[in-house]
Amino acid sequence: MGTYVITGGASGIGKAIAEQLQSEGHQTLSVDIQDADIVADLASPEGRNAAVAAIMQATDAGLQGLVTSAGVGSHVSNNALITNVNYFGSVELIQKLEDHLAAHNASVLLVSSNSAPMETNPEFVQSLLQGDAERACALAEQMQGHPVYSGTKQAVTLWMRRNAAAFAGKGIRINAIGPGYTRTPLSAAVEDNPDYGEAIKQFIASIPVGRPGTPEDMADAASFLLGDRATFICGAMLFVDGGHDAMMRPDSF
Ligand code: NAI
Repeated sequence: MGTYVITGGASGIGKAIAEQLQSEGHQTLSVDIQDADIVADLASPEGRNAAVAAIMQATDAGLQGLVTSAGVGSHVSNNALITNVNYFGSVELIQKLEDHLAAHNASVLLVSSNSAPMETNPEFVQSLLQGDAERACALAEQMQGHPVYSGTKQAVTLWMRRNAAAFAGKGIRINAIGPGYTRTPLSAAVEDNPDYGEAIKQFIASIPVGRPGTPEDMADAASFLLGDRATFICGAMLFVDGGHDAMMRPDSF
């Protein structure tokens, strides 16, 4: 039994992952902008630094794993916020915790999306991977919300793939899940948004297994990837999306 840190643990997928891990006997620490064990704004460098310091102090005795689920949806009108929370709130947090994660042989799970392969601006993705927040936010301001969202998720996934081998060499196993449409407060807000509502209804109706995902679907996959039954799984992006990615990109894997 160990301690897991879950960003975005106050709601939706992050909350369900925390509850699943607790039901297996683990301790969890949530990091969120509200209602959390560690309250921090992961959109800003200062907030991330504060979160890192608090996580290190709280998990000095042991850290089994880190899940980065904090995120905002494409309906949010502030594209810089989508950029900062969804990419830097995950990747920079992991980078700053790297030595601590290595010291505890922890595993990491990034919550990406099945939007990750969707249309975006490659220059935006490149600037994220270069850690250039200023350039990324400037490019995001010229883009629509969904390509910003999918670009952050593409960059999170590429970052995971590019760093999986080096992290494994330090004893840290990193993987990602790509949730499909999942009923949470975030997806409800996207569905309520007039810019997205109708398209989302058609998107949901086209999910091959015939239903949207639940936070518990994501929690089951997360618990498996984080735990002892998955010690040979490293650098994987697992789509948990009822077959949607396979339907949209049948020849890619
Ligand atoms: P949610 O809105 O229920 O949970 C997101 C959590 O992130 C909230 O507790 C929120 O307070 C926290 N958060 C937002 N901004 C923050 C900040 N600046 N600092 C700290 N915490 C912050 O949303 P949901 O659906 O559970 O999303 C979790 C992750 O799953 C996100 O990364 C999202 O992009 C991803 N995802 C969700 C899908 C869905 O259909 N719900 C589909 C694919 C990916």
